[in-house]
Amino acid sequence: DEESLWFTFRGAVYDMTFFVNGHPGGTPRLLMAAGQDLEPYWEVYRQHFRGHVVSWMEKYRIGNLSPEETKKSKDFSFGDMYETDPLRDPNLLGCTQKPWCGEPRIDLLTKDYITPNELFYVRNHLAVPDIDPEEYVLIVKGKGIKKHKFTLEDLKTKFPKHEVVTTLQCAGNRREDMHDDNHKIFIAPHWVVGAMSTAKWGGPKMRDVLKYCGMDVDAMALGDKNPPGIKHVQFEGYDTDETGLCY
Ligand code: HEM
Repeated sequence: DEESLWFTFRGAVYDMTFFVNGHPGGTPRLLMAAGQDLEPYWEVYRQHFRGHVVSWMEKYRIGNLSPEETKKSKDFSFGDMYETDPLRDPNLLGCTQKPWCGEPRIDLLTKDYITPNELFYVRNHLAVPDIDPEEYVLIVKGKGIKKHKFTLEDLKTKFPKHEVVTTLQCAGNRREDMHDDNHKIFIAPHWVVGAMSTAKWGGPKMRDVLKYCGMDVDAMALGDKNPPGIKHVQFEGYDTDETGLCY
């Protein structure tokens, strides 16, 4: 019913109502699968088959299916959004396949200060969107600015290009070290040590783009203006999950 969230999995019935807002893969995906068998979904998202997830769920088991019901429950298929994901460099070690996350081999990562593009660690939450650079648009909208649409060409030509060499590290780097019997559930991926890479990044400054759209960023930075209700810039990618949720 509306108040509870049950699933079946390999002949068992689980009441996971408490988990509705705790799922690392998001609430909408859980609701999409509510009342159904998890196996067809987890055949795509195989990180769930790790022992820690399955054994952790055991305490929420509230019943069992008959052998006939078990067979019937998983007799459907779930589409795979990841079929068009790019091929990755074999020296990028995948720790999750869907969504794809991977870290470079440590001997290659430490070979040079700048990480080669194809070895830069990847942390995806979704499938890789197929974007035609000719059709790409960046829409800027919100409080205190005039809505604008920029093509890739606009971003390259309307604003000065800035370059910065910087290192990014996933906040979960070395996550695998924390995987023990006292910490069974945590968010993927299971990084070893390499979720860290360095690159020279180039492009327009966000400050210049917002200024172009009418936001007085200089006055705001100096504290001369503090327009009410404007606190953050939120980015939304082209990629969405199966329920249309954008990260
Ligand atoms: C009771 C059911 C479920 C439980 C207990 C559960 C649990 C989890 C856990 C523990 C993780 C982190 C995995 C790890 O440690 O490596 C995870 C990730 C994920 N789950 Fe689930 N899950 C459930 C149902 C589902 C369903 C039905 C879907 C898809 C329709 C789904 C999609 C995902 C995805 C895509 C991730 C990866 C998120 C990311 O890395 O951004 N899960 N889930």
